[in-house]
Amino acid sequence: MSIILAIESSCDETSVAVCNNGKITANVIANQTIHENYGGVIPELASRVHQQNIVPVIQQALTDAKVNKKELNAVAFTRGPGLLGSLLVGVSFAKSFALALDLPLIAVNHMHAHILAHFIDDPKPSFPFLCLTVSGGHTQIVLVKDYFDMEIVGETLDDAAGEAFDKTAKILNLPYPGGPLIDKHAQLGNPLAYKFPVPQIKDLDYSFSGFKTAILYFVRDNVKANPDFIAQHLEDICASVQHSIVQILLAKLKKAAQQYGIKEIAIAGGVSANSGLRAALKGMEAELGWRTYIPAFQYCTDNAAMIAIAGHYKFIEKDFVGQDVAPTSRMVF
Ligand code: KG4
Ligand code: ZN
Repeated sequence: MSIILAIESSCDETSVAVCNNGKITANVIANQTIHENYGGVIPELASRVHQQNIVPVIQQALTDAKVNKKELNAVAFTRGPGLLGSLLVGVSFAKSFALALDLPLIAVNHMHAHILAHFIDDPKPSFPFLCLTVSGGHTQIVLVKDYFDMEIVGETLDDAAGEAFDKTAKILNLPYPGGPLIDKHAQLGNPLAYKFPVPQIKDLDYSFSGFKTAILYFVRDNVKANPDFIAQHLEDICASVQHSIVQILLAKLKKAAQQYGIKEIAIAGGVSANSGLRAALKGMEAELGWRTYIPAFQYCTDNAAMIAIAGHYKFIEKDFVGQDVAPTSRMVF
């Protein structure tokens, strides 16, 4: 029996969740809209807003879960990877809270947690499975052998898939984070209107930096010829870019599935909220005999429910850390 409070503050969402015996009973997320006009997250601003939000978000989560803080059995928190200043707010708060209430501390790897979000609700994947984890900072194909026994078998050599979405949005003068907006406009466009080069990268790795540059030149050249090009063709551009990114992501995932002989296939992370990726993955079920696992929308982008479920499995193993634990912006997988 365990009631775990979990804190996520790795980037620009301040989130607190409660997990009661493996069931999520609260998941409060405070988004930071302050970064919209800057074209990306400003680390210094993110830390300050976490500092303002953390106590009200904790209080709201305890209220939603209908638990008194004295009933808690452990405090879980994101140790990394992420922005150091943002992580420091969550880690410091978790340590003080645990110290005051005499509770054990559970350190969670944010990338593990994105994958373990699949264990919040049914259906749950069975081990071993492959997970394509696609977020603003990471693009990884992970061989998941057990809850905390995971191996990266392919990853991006430069930009992440989320960055490819966000940078395309910036080129198209859309606010940050652009991924959801590209998705929205793409739904009204023709995915085959424009063709973009597919990166030729070895093995199961990815690269999106050349792709991003190709889009930059494509838009720049077209705007030179027609200043209204973006406004006139926004839907088709978004649909074509999204289609290309999804094809690039799934080609390597298919290769990994063949290489490892695995048919249990999951996606996770912010970009797994993308409607094109979700539909294309579902479409591969029948074609390849896969069983696919797609997280509920609220568990794709950053949230503390995924930290709480990871905390639940670590609590079972009594995998606790001491008060000397520190956040880390880069974390060994
Ligand atoms: O996992 P996440 O919330 O934060 C990180 O750990 O990075 O992922 C954020 C990323 C951003 O790049 C955002 O644009 C992208 O996920 N994203 C999407 C969609 N929703 C979020 N990208 C494409 N389509 C979406 N619907
Ligand atoms: Zn994330």
